[in-house]
Amino acid sequence: MSQKNQTLGEFIIEHQSSFKYSSGELSRLINSIRLAAKVVNYEVNKAGLVDILGAAGDTNVQGESQQKLDVYANDKFIQMLTNRNIVCGIASEEEDHFIAINSNDKNHQNKYIVLIDPLDGSSNIDVNVSVGTIFSVYRRVTDVGTPVSLDDFLQKGSEQVAAGYIIYGTSTMLVYTTGDGVNGFTLNPAIGTFYLSHPNMQFPKNGKIYSVNEGNYIHFPQGIKDYIKYCQMEEGDRPYTSRYIGSLVSDFHRNMIKGGIYLYPKSSKTSEGKLRLLYECNPMAFLAEQANGKATNGVQRILDIQPTELHQRVPFICGSTNMVEDVEAFIKATQ
Ligand code: AHG
Ligand code: MN
Ligand code: MN
Repeated sequence: MSQKNQTLGEFIIEHQSSFKYSSGELSRLINSIRLAAKVVNYEVNKAGLVDILGAAGDTNVQGESQQKLDVYANDKFIQMLTNRNIVCGIASEEEDHFIAINSNDKNHQNKYIVLIDPLDGSSNIDVNVSVGTIFSVYRRVTDVGTPVSLDDFLQKGSEQVAAGYIIYGTSTMLVYTTGDGVNGFTLNPAIGTFYLSHPNMQFPKNGKIYSVNEGNYIHFPQGIKDYIKYCQMEEGDRPYTSRYIGSLVSDFHRNMIKGGIYLYPKSSKTSEGKLRLLYECNPMAFLAEQANGKATNGVQRILDIQPTELHQRVPFICGSTNMVEDVEAFIKATQ
């Protein structure tokens, strides 16, 4: 039974038994992400003080060299998951190769691998606009006690056991799913505790917001151009509102609460779009479906795509179900 003012820590313990592989391992994993989120949040909040504290590459007063925030966030999440001996492998948007943990220890029993986009929307940092972290969790497919291999990371998104994001916005939130709905927790920075603020988050079936980098319009496929024109047409509840932050986490978060659609289509310049299947699209697609929304590459469900490489990119269309289906219909009509 959920209680009022429930903390994330309490929520994790309460829901541990409802998770089908309940061993406590996944709970410990979410707990270490919670901790890394607080550490990164602290650093993100100081970003505006860069002239005072020193820019990336500088040496600060303590003699420590200042890192770029995406490198910092990457190091912190990897450090937190590695030091606490929680996972057997990590892959990150910021790393060329996956990291195998304790690969020579045959007694190593950890079953989970984690994939992260440590800082999403990183170009927003310098201008004090929301950024995020995205994470995705799978059970390894190779045997426990052996080193992880690429096969453990190249699983379809439908195999995810947990996924979520942290949004460092006007307030900091951790939003995640373990396949049983989506719940959002807001950080009280005064005491460093996340509280359940958004239980059972759901995409409205319809929305009135479309989020796409329209500067690329000329390069988009015809079906996407047609859909954008449809959004702008005066008819029924249209024209829709255009909102694009340039941070997938932030655009997704707003659209999930208000109803809307996010598009990063392929274009004549980027034949596979820009977003990464493993670090961005799969976790957001899992969250979307758990929140009654939908995610597609235009012709196929994102979670059904068989990944072929770690840093693979795919076109990404995600949000309120009826809006995503409208786009699919426009694409189909041009094929
Ligand atoms: P990242 O900062 O992790 O590289 O991701 C940025 C992504 C995504 O969050 C955002 O929606 C998109 O790139 C913005 O791209 P454009 O500037 O091309 O619109
Ligand atoms: Mn990103
Ligand atoms: Mn990133």
